[in-house]
Amino acid sequence: MGSCVTDTLYSNFANPSLKRDYCSLSGSDSGVESVHDGAKLARELIGNALQKHIQSIDTDECEAGAEDAFFVADLGDVYRQHMRWKAHLPRITPHYAVKCNPDPRILELLAKMGAGFDCASKTEIEQVLAMGIDASRIIYAQPCKTKSYLRFTAKQGVSQMTFDNVDELYKIKELFPAAQLFLRISTDDSASLCRLSQKFGAAMDVTEGLLKTAKQLELNIVGVAFHVGSGASDPGAFRQAVRDARTVFDKGAELGFNMHTLDCGGGFVSETFDEMAAVLAETVDKHFPPHVRIIAEPGRYYTSSAFTLACNVIARRTVEDKVTPGGNNSYMLYMNDGVYGNFSSIIFDHQHPIPRVLNTQAKQDGYRYSLSRDDAITYSIWGPTCDGIDCIAQQWQSKDTVDVGDWLYFEDMGAYTKCSATRFNGFTDKHETIYVCSEPDAVALLKE
Ligand SMILES: Cc1ncc(COP(=O)(O)O)c(C=O)c1O
Repeated sequence: MGSCVTDTLYSNFANPSLKRDYCSLSGSDSGVESVHDGAKLARELIGNALQKHIQSIDTDECEAGAEDAFFVADLGDVYRQHMRWKAHLPRITPHYAVKCNPDPRILELLAKMGAGFDCASKTEIEQVLAMGIDASRIIYAQPCKTKSYLRFTAKQGVSQMTFDNVDELYKIKELFPAAQLFLRISTDDSASLCRLSQKFGAAMDVTEGLLKTAKQLELNIVGVAFHVGSGASDPGAFRQAVRDARTVFDKGAELGFNMHTLDCGGGFVSETFDEMAAVLAETVDKHFPPHVRIIAEPGRYYTSSAFTLACNVIARRTVEDKVTPGGNNSYMLYMNDGVYGNFSSIIFDHQHPIPRVLNTQAKQDGYRYSLSRDDAITYSIWGPTCDGIDCIAQQWQSKDTVDVGDWLYFEDMGAYTKCSATRFNGFTDKHETIYVCSEPDAVALLKE
C-alpha cells in the first residue's frame, strides 16, 4: 500500500475527536483493560469520511464530475471478517474470490493476513502476482478456461485450477499437462441468490468417467471443488456437497490419484455465516481427516459490509397527486449512479440496496410539504442514464425532504458492485474510494 493511504488511515486514528473516543473505548486513560469496539468506531470513521467529502463539494460551483458518487471503505471491517472466519473455520484457508471486488487495498490486507486468492482470468492472476504473491497461493477457479490464459498460467506457474468436463481435460493436456486439477462437482444451489451449478460443475454420475479420462491422459488430479451458489441460504447444501466430494475423493484415490485438497468454494453471507460455518466445519471434520488440506473461495463475505456508497441527487421530478384534494405529491429522484454503474448488483446480484439520507440542504421549494411533517414522502430513485431500466428503488418512503444537490448513501455496497460497473452513456466507472480503518491491528499490518 502506498504511504499516503496508510497515512490517511493512520490520521483517522490521530483525529483528536476520534482518538479521544477510541481511547475511552480502549480504557487506556482509566487503566481499565482494553475493550476496542471496532464496529462502533467504524460507524464514526465512515460517517466522518462521508461528511468530510461531501462538505468539500459545492454542487453550485464545482468542476464537472466533482460531485460524482464515491465509496468509503473500512478495511477494519475486512479484518474483523477474517478474524471471524478464523474463529469459525480454523481448518479452512480462504482464497478470496477476486472477482467480487478487486480493490487493491483489500487484496493487500488479505494477503498480509495469509489468505490465498481465487482468480477467474488473466487480469486477476496478473493483479495478484504483481503484489508479490506466490503462484502457489492462487487457484484459477474457472472450469472453462481461455486457451491463451492457460498458456499464461503455465508460464507463471499458477498450477492449481478447476475443471468440470472432458473437453477441458484435453485442452489442459495440450497446454498445461502438469497442472494440479480440482474436479468441480455440481451442487444443489436452489436456495442461493446466484445459481452457479446450472453453468458449472460435473454431475455426480459423470465424475468417475472424468477421473478415468484424466488417468488415461496422465493428468494430475489433486482434489475436488464445489460452490453451493453465491448468497447461499441452506446449510444442507454444504453438507451434501462435502459428502459428494468425499465420494469423488475416494474414487480418485482408488484410481491412484493423490487426492489432497478439498475446495469448498464461496457462498458465505455475513448474516448467516456462523450457522453455515458450524455445519461446514462439522461435516468437513466428519468426512475428511486432518491431513487433507481444506480451502474455500469466499468473496461476498469479506467485502460486502466494508463499502458504503454515497450518491448525489442530480435532478428531481415532482409527480403531482391529481386525485387527493390538497395533493400528496411524490417525487422521482435522479442520482449520479445507477444500475449501469455501482448499482449493477441490482441486475447481476439480485440486491436491493437501501437508501439513507446523508445530507439535505433542508430547502423548501414551494411545494406542499414541510420539513417537520410527520408522514413520510414517497420517492422513486433512478440512475443517471437514459434507460428506463436504470431504477434503484421503485418506491422509497422518507420523512426527509430530498432535493437536487442532496446526498444519499447506501451500506453493504462492497460485493459485485464497482467491478461490474459500465461506462454506459459516458458516465465514469472509476469512482473514488476513501479508505478508513476501524481496527488498529489492520493499520499496523498495512504499515508493515
Ligand atoms: C468459482 C467461484 N468461486 C467463488 C465465488 C465467490 O462466491 P461468493 O461471493 O458467493 O463467496 C464465485 C462467485 O461467483 C465463483 O464463481
